This record gives sequence, C-alpha cells and structure tokens, in this order.
Amino acid sequence: MTTRRVQASAPGKVILLGEHAVVYGRPAIAVPLSGLHATVMVMPGAAGTGVVVEARDVGRTLRANQDTSDPLVVTVQNTLARLGVTDPGDLYLTIASDIPVASGLGSGAAVAVATIRALNAWLDGHLTDADVSALAYETEVLHHGTPSGIDNSVVTYEQPIVFTKARGVEPFVLGAPLTLVVGDTGIASPTRETVGDVRRAWQADPARYEALFDAVAETVRAGRAAIERGDAPALGAAMRRDHVLLQEMGVSGPELDALVAAAERAGALGAKLAGGGRGGNMIALVTPANALGVAAALRQAGATRALISQIV
Ligand code: PMV
Repeated sequence: MTTRRVQASAPGKVILLGEHAVVYGRPAIAVPLSGLHATVMVMPGAAGTGVVVEARDVGRTLRANQDTSDPLVVTVQNTLARLGVTDPGDLYLTIASDIPVASGLGSGAAVAVATIRALNAWLDGHLTDADVSALAYETEVLHHGTPSGIDNSVVTYEQPIVFTKARGVEPFVLGAPLTLVVGDTGIASPTRETVGDVRRAWQADPARYEALFDAVAETVRAGRAAIERGDAPALGAAMRRDHVLLQEMGVSGPELDALVAAAERAGALGAKLAGGGRGGNMIALVTPANALGVAAALRQAGATRALISQIV
C-alpha cells in the first residue's frame, strides 16, 4: 500500500511600490516571484504523535500539542478550526522553502499559504482563495504585528496586484513583461521592527509621515499607470522616487543604499528597497539586455544573492 501524500506550494513576492504607506491605507503594488517557493507536504504521522511540523530549512520540528504559540502551529490550528476538524489524527507536515526568511520576500506568507492549502487538500476541504488569504493574514499578524494584508494577498493570488486595506486586491494587467533583479543585503531584518519604528515615528510626527505616505501613494499611482502602458522608464522613475521617500521614513540603511546606487550605476532604470527595509532585499528594474550586468554589479557591491526574475 502506498502512503498517501499531498503537497501545495506558494511563491515568494516583492513589493514594487508602496511598502509601509500601505499599512496606513495607501495603495501598493506587489508581484509574485515565481522562481522562489515554499512547499508543504502532508502525510500520515507515527501513531500517537498528533500533528508534527518539520521546518527543514530552519532545522526545527514542532509538535502541535506542545509548541502551541508557534506561528506554524497556530496556522495549522486555525486552518483545522476553519475546516471544522477537531481531531485530524496523526499528521506529519514537512516544509521546504527556498525563500530567504526575514528579507522582504514573503517567506512567512508563502509558508502559511502552502500549509493552509496542503491541509485543505489533505482534508478534502473547500477553502476559496479568499479563505486561504484570510487565514494567512492571521499568521501575518503573528509575524508582523500590524500587517496591511498585501503579503498574504499577492502570495495567495499569485499574480501582480494593487492592494489597499480598504479595497483589498484589485485586478492588474501589465502592458509589457517586467525584468527585475532582486539583490539581497544578507542582513536579516524582521518586518515587525521596521513597521513598529515607522508607527512610533508617525505617532511622534503624524503630519510629516502622512505627507510622506501621500507622496508614496503618488508614486504608486504613477507607477501603476506606467506598468499598464508598458512604460519601463517611467516605472523606474517612480521606483527611484519611492526609495528616496523610504529613506526619509527611516527604513533604508547603508547596505540597501549601496546596492541601489550600484544598480543605477550599472544601468538599471530604477531601484529601491523592497519590503520592510533596513536589511533584506532591494529590487532593480532592468531590461533583459542589462539584467546580467546589473546582477553582477550587485554581487560586486556586496549582495549575497542577485536573482533575475521575469514578471508577466
Ligand atoms: O514582508 P515584507 O518585509 O515584504 O514587508 C511587508 C510590507 C510592509 O508594508 C512593510 C508591511 C505590511 O504589512 O504591508
């Protein structure tokens, strides 16, 4: 008899424009990164073990009946509750992910979405994309504190999105494919910290931060129009402007700024930090012809990884 197994995957993501301001109701644009994935496999567990979750890449094994406050275990429990399952029996979940953690590439959301979908398949559930995204949002709250909801949305729907807290996900069509280089500073930077810092700074000087968020919203509007008409130079200009605004918000850092400058020197149309900031990743908008050159320049400037990704 073969052992039953089911698996589900979810992609990484980057925020093209609008991070941080999106927490305060402004729009942001995010795209999936199809070259990076989290995959979760469900199979029967050993008798009497309950639900066990093995997160291979981070070398952790969690038991649902002991590690009750761990975000992975909470994700499992919330999904079981949503499916109306009180006793799923002995289950073994294995998580494999090539999305770097704490670096703005949506690793937490991707692991949550893949976990929810794998359990839904295992239990023959009928969760819709909206259900999956809502459950993944609950996990994002544990990771981020006050997330906007953009990460769980783009990772669930796996397509370019414009996101606002009030309207959620909006359909979005690219006028032409985009080529991005994603450069990693190699510095882990939990989003919870930069989101918390921005909140404290906003509380101390609301007028200044509201004006910064409005200026970010303007770059998002200009960037969206540029993407829809396939105007890469105009999108690059919006990205450059957004990076300056993120610097003014206090969420960039010397390593991110060095990679952004190196990408622009190497001919990128625009570059900016992506995600929470401080460390983590930056993105450069390039042409297919200069993608390799920009990736090499990023590595030379200290990037621990430079990933070329085509967004369609
Ligand atoms: O998960 P990250 O690091 O890509 O950051 C998410 C973007 C923020 O706007 C900084 C936070 C949020 O919840 O939208």
